[in-house]
Amino acid sequence: MVSILIIFGSTSGNTELVCDEVSQVLREKKYKVVVQRAEQSTPSDINKYTYCILASSTYGQGILQDHMLKFIKKCSRANFKDKKFAVIGLGDNKYNTEYIIESAKILEKKITENDGVLLTPSLRINKTPVLHLEDTIKTWAMNLSKKLK
Ligand SMILES: Cc1cc2nc3c(=O)[nH]c(=O)nc-3n(C[C@H](O)[C@H](O)[C@H](O)COP(=O)(O)O)c2cc1C
Repeated sequence: MVSILIIFGSTSGNTELVCDEVSQVLREKKYKVVVQRAEQSTPSDINKYTYCILASSTYGQGILQDHMLKFIKKCSRANFKDKKFAVIGLGDNKYNTEYIIESAKILEKKITENDGVLLTPSLRINKTPVLHLEDTIKTWAMNLSKKLK
């Protein structure tokens, strides 16, 4: 069975909400989906699933959310050869106009540097609250589901 692991880093819950929304759409499409906090994840979890979605908000001067930052550091020697990924990045230009949703860029770079493959353009969420973006999130998840086999 095709399985999808969503690993997220979230401080105030926005990224978690987006991941829950994405997981609902994918489950409706009959995929097995596991949503897991970055602080409870290890790099070896990724290879237990067919696909992996990495999701993180942006903090500081355009850095990953703290738990995702630690997780990604643990992935420095991981081999994602041919593993297929998607990325969800959150940010808000009211905090920083130079590094808006930098989390998506950082995750994309990490995945490709470790020989992983990006399945689809990343979902980028600017501004909070995020639930008014329900349609954007659902459309992205539907498009992603069409690329899964
Ligand atoms: C102290 C602080 C710094 C932030 N820095 C950035 C930033 O550099 N770039 C950006 O796009 N968003 C930035 N944000 C916005 C967050 O990424 C955004 O609010 C996000 O929705 C938080 O998601 P979370 O609740 O999942 O952690 C910052 C927010 C805070 C509170």
